[in-house]
Amino acid sequence: GKRHLGIWEGSLRSASLSRAAARAVAGLAPGGFSVETLPNPGTLPLFDQDVMDRGLPESVAALLAAVTRCDAILIVTPEYNWSVPGALKNAIDWVSRAQPVPLAGKPVAIWSVSPGLLGGARVHESLRHVLHSQDMRIMAKPEVQIAQARAKLDVEAGRITDPQTEAFLRGHLEQFLRYSRQTALTEA
Ligand code: FNR
Repeated sequence: GKRHLGIWEGSLRSASLSRAAARAVAGLAPGGFSVETLPNPGTLPLFDQDVMDRGLPESVAALLAAVTRCDAILIVTPEYNWSVPGALKNAIDWVSRAQPVPLAGKPVAIWSVSPGLLGGARVHESLRHVLHSQDMRIMAKPEVQIAQARAKLDVEAGRITDPQTEAFLRGHLEQFLRYSRQTALTEA
């Protein structure tokens, strides 16, 4: 059957390069994936145990429900100061406090996006470190770094305009679908 893919964005801003790449996924993904965008990390309060103890915020509950119904997760994110953007880390921290841990055993892949030459290459290792803490199944290769993204994306349309990049991303999603089926805990 179809695998349900959740897209998790690392950027909050409307003119974001990485969000544009995230929006393009629905049109690039193979038919074996149904695609849903997870609630943006900007919808969540800062993690605070006191807030949690007073009752789970609705925004967190909505994210948990979305993560739970996904069979696989694709994180599309910028790199901030060689690492994971705080808002995305905050979102992972919230999700990690639910029982049973909804991310455990789920296949995950990362696309980094940057206007710079390195394409956010350094966020991969930082983010994998955090995802391992959740016992996620990480497809580490091929690594997707969309470098010099301003020249490869149409931000307003949420589309990849560079044909080589588009073909590479399509191939990556096909590979991730196969990986998701192989590592699935539930019957594919
Ligand atoms: C950045 N930027 C950045 N870029 C990069 O390639 N490596 C980095 O370490 C950083 N660090 C960084 C820190 C902070 C706080 C900001 C705001 C920005 C630049 C970043 O890639 C650029 O602003 C992107 O356009 C941000 O992604 P979105 O919002 O366009 O998806």
